[in-house]
Amino acid sequence: MVPIADPPLCSSSLSSLQTLGSDGVRITMESALTARDRVGVQDFVLLENHTSEAAFIENLRKRFKENLIYTYIGSVLVSVNPYKDLEIYTKNHMERYRGINFYEVSPHIYAVSDNSYRSMRTERRDQCILISGESGAGKTEASKKILQYYAVTCPASDQVETVKDRLLQSNPVLEAFGNAKTLRNDNSSRFGKYMDIQFDFKGAPVGGHILNYLLEKSRVVHQNHGERNFHIFYQLIEGGEEDLLRRLGLERNPQQYQYLVKVGHSRVSLYELWCFGFNRVLSVWVSQGNCPKVSSINDRSDWKVVRKALSVIGFSEDEVEELLNIIASVLHLGNIQYGGEDSGNAYITTDTQIKYLARLKSPLNLEQASSARDALSKAVYGRTFTWLVNKINVSLAYKNASVIGLLDIYGFEVFQHNSFEQFCINYCNEKLQQLFIELTLKSEQDEYEAEGITWEPVQYFNNKIICDLVEEKFKGIISILDEECLRPGDASDITFLEKLENTVGGHAHLTTHKLTDGKTRKVMGREEFRLLHYAGEVNYNVNGFLDKNNDLLFRNLKEVMCMSDNKILTQCFDRAELKDSRRPETAATQFKTSLAKLMEILMSKEPSYVRCIKPNDAKQAGRFDEVLIRHQVKYLGLMENLRVRRAGFAYRRHYETFLQRYKSLCPETWPSWQGKLADGVSTLVKHLGYKPEEYKLGRSKIFIRFPKTLFATEDALETRKHSLGERESHVSHAVVVQAWWKGILACRRARRRREAANTIRRFIKGFIYRHNERCPENEYFLDYVRYSFLMKLRRNLPKTVLDKSWPTPPTALIEASERLRKLYMQNMVWGYCKRINPEWKHQLEQKMVASEIFKNKKDNYPQSVPKLFVGTRLNGEEINPKVLQSLGSEKMKYAVPVTKYDRKGYKARPRQLLLTSNSAVIVEEAKLKQRIDYAALKGISVSSLSDGVFVLHVPTEDKKQKGDVVLQSDHIIETLTKVAICADKVNSININQGSITFTMGQGREGIIDFTSGSELLVAKAKNGHLSVTAPRLNSR
Ligand SMILES: Nc1ncnc2c1ncn2[C@@H]1O[C@H](COP(=O)(O)OP(=O)(O)OP(=O)(O)O)[C@@H](O)[C@H]1O
Ligand SMILES: [Mg+2]
Repeated sequence: MVPIADPPLCSSSLSSLQTLGSDGVRITMESALTARDRVGVQDFVLLENHTSEAAFIENLRKRFKENLIYTYIGSVLVSVNPYKDLEIYTKNHMERYRGINFYEVSPHIYAVSDNSYRSMRTERRDQCILISGESGAGKTEASKKILQYYAVTCPASDQVETVKDRLLQSNPVLEAFGNAKTLRNDNSSRFGKYMDIQFDFKGAPVGGHILNYLLEKSRVVHQNHGERNFHIFYQLIEGGEEDLLRRLGLERNPQQYQYLVKVGHSRVSLYELWCFGFNRVLSVWVSQGNCPKVSSINDRSDWKVVRKALSVIGFSEDEVEELLNIIASVLHLGNIQYGGEDSGNAYITTDTQIKYLARLKSPLNLEQASSARDALSKAVYGRTFTWLVNKINVSLAYKNASVIGLLDIYGFEVFQHNSFEQFCINYCNEKLQQLFIELTLKSEQDEYEAEGITWEPVQYFNNKIICDLVEEKFKGIISILDEECLRPGDASDITFLEKLENTVGGHAHLTTHKLTDGKTRKVMGREEFRLLHYAGEVNYNVNGFLDKNNDLLFRNLKEVMCMSDNKILTQCFDRAELKDSRRPETAATQFKTSLAKLMEILMSKEPSYVRCIKPNDAKQAGRFDEVLIRHQVKYLGLMENLRVRRAGFAYRRHYETFLQRYKSLCPETWPSWQGKLADGVSTLVKHLGYKPEEYKLGRSKIFIRFPKTLFATEDALETRKHSLGERESHVSHAVVVQAWWKGILACRRARRRREAANTIRRFIKGFIYRHNERCPENEYFLDYVRYSFLMKLRRNLPKTVLDKSWPTPPTALIEASERLRKLYMQNMVWGYCKRINPEWKHQLEQKMVASEIFKNKKDNYPQSVPKLFVGTRLNGEEINPKVLQSLGSEKMKYAVPVTKYDRKGYKARPRQLLLTSNSAVIVEEAKLKQRIDYAALKGISVSSLSDGVFVLHVPTEDKKQKGDVVLQSDHIIETLTKVAICADKVNSININQGSITFTMGQGREGIIDFTSGSELLVAKAKNGHLSVTAPRLNSR
């Protein structure tokens, strides 16, 4: 039986609870509380005795026995390696964890993955998931599960599919070149890995980037008994096609290769090699791994997977061949053996190998090839690995994305013999622990602040002091080691130890055999120093520290590599490096720098943690080795983590969730609470008798200090469920009806939304196709545009015949709009004409004449337009009766007061101008001063300016006339229009610029000059002309 998740609630569970899922995945966290006796708690914060390591391990054990491998400490996931396939990683499981609240489901790596993904999307913050644990604890498996989760559940497009493939396929490639079978793990990662998965704005994985840390290069030349070299060597030999092997000069038999099985040289430093010369058989032959076949590994099928993965990632056939050439060369290099000559020269006993080497790699001469074989092998392999990572990065490259980082890095290591590698690894863990504590405390503090709850300081061990001890400039262990590596003279591992004693001997976290007291001295070697890590004490043997830190490759070997015609090697060994006379950075300093960068990367992201635990050393399912687990709980700092998380409150939930679950326990909140959620929770907990010190109410959550308070509430709920059972049936009927009605409403809403969405979609499509001929895509849009134009037109039609406004039509309606406009105008004009009366018609006729004569010709015409013409400006009483008498039967048509300017001296005299049916008459009081028959009127002159002066021209030969008459009227436009109409002289009105010449009588001529000025002025000028200054009008 494989229970897949925590046990479900009993059948009478409230309808509001989440107990769905045939496989029981979607069980509320609270539901598991009820089953806690059997399967423990899902979250360690609910442990009553949270400071007890025994209780912690007992909880882990209970769960492990039930195949519940995941447990939380708050948001940290603790995972125990089951060493068997559990049915909890199916697509169904992935779907169930998608978009679900962290606490609604039982703990799972998918919950962590989903939580990070959603935070990234909703909060737009980059995330990282830190996976740690010792070798074989399941880190790499966990990281693969996370990657698969994203590959399956995230949205995708065609282009994304290839990126997804590449992301997934980068794993087998990196594992082939960077993983190996060790005693602890058949697929142990021999490098640290940080991988960014990049997501675009739609949340689809679109790229990635990998950073690699500290590959265990020494494995290329030496492995412990029962261990293997990197997988790729065996895969190539077992799986490589005959042809390929022939080209590479390889045999299908791992036993043929020293680096894989037989014996090899180790423990001899290059330095020694150099000092002793090549005249001896140098290698100290020790037993190699001798373990080419492993039952859990199928090299042949793995080879196929790797070959396919390489091409998915984008390796060309040539690149693959060059890469494999390098792998084969390393094997050949390993087979070089040395013989001693009496003369003192070294000789190589394996000619064939050299032949291949020379052919495959570079023009190595015999001496170079034999001198630093292993150093060369390590350097070549190490750099090729870095090249491989870069190559994968190129194929995954993407810019401007949101990121989830996955850190799969070696956990804390304590062996019987610990060396430089353990020192680096444990230093790395020390740094990660610091980050972890800082960020966990910070997120706790942030939550308290957000909820408005006072922060209670938590006591915790700050391991900065240990980090400083290792990494501080000048005073730190790495600085001291570098100094010993670089200084001239006979520095050795022992002088390094002495220097440590002298420099940091007094440090509380460091001791040595010499410095310590009797009891510890017994368990320490003379060549060891002990660091007191956050996770415990570790003794490091200084042997090999200097060599490993120097990691030197002689210049001549580098030169040789630069000359290679293998393109990958020439990229790995850059000529620029040869020119650089500076000493390369030491291994420890390089590692320190890359760690500092990693910390920066992690600090900039929101972290989640997966802490992996290995249940036993035998890789067996179902075995729970308590001693081993206790060690890991300690090394992973889980108790500290729990203490920090529990410092304030054991349990916290959003009001809604809490009320939903426990509302049946209080009459006021059951069956539903109508008021504010916070008030509901407050009423509920008061009813339950919570004491003030047991809980706090934040802004959106309730915080409960002790698990026992929660458990008591949980037990009360259990009891309540039984009594509710009966009532529930009534309630359930009501609920059914309610649900139906809600369903109907929801359907309606959904339908409306669907229709709205369709309309919007049609509209957008129509807009895109709007310039096309009418087609199904745009007909809706075009109709709408037409309709809305016509509607707009209707609201904005011109109100009068003079109003020329008209809404702009859409392209499709330009012609129609023009026609409509014409029609509408005609109609309006027609209506207007119909409404017109005779008087008004007469007025308009006169205005038409005025327009013909003066429009655009005389400055004061525009002002006259709105003023109506009157029948006459003088009525019967204002004209002298004698004048009327003398006019006799002549009908008077218009009379207006005017000013007449004398011909002599241009004196102004008030006169009346009368227009009869036959003539224009100038009257002074009772005298008819001058009568001009219309037939005799030669013409009329006016200026183009705004003055009212005009001249009536008469024939000079007419003796009755005394010459042309110069008059001025205040209503010049009206007066002259009347004259023109009465005398039928519309075409005889001259509008002059500048001046008018007129006849004074007896053949003399007079001149009137017109100018513009500020006001009207008519006077005789010095030159004898009549000067008229016409006021300038605003419009000019
Ligand atoms: N969730 C799991 N389900 C089933 N088996 C697992 C699971 N996790 C790990 N294993 C088993 O444990 C083995 C070791 O796991 P993994 O390689 O992930 O360890 P690791 O922590 O990465 O170790 P190392 O530090 O050596 O790389 C796997 O090969 C697999 O057989
Ligand atoms: Mg691993």
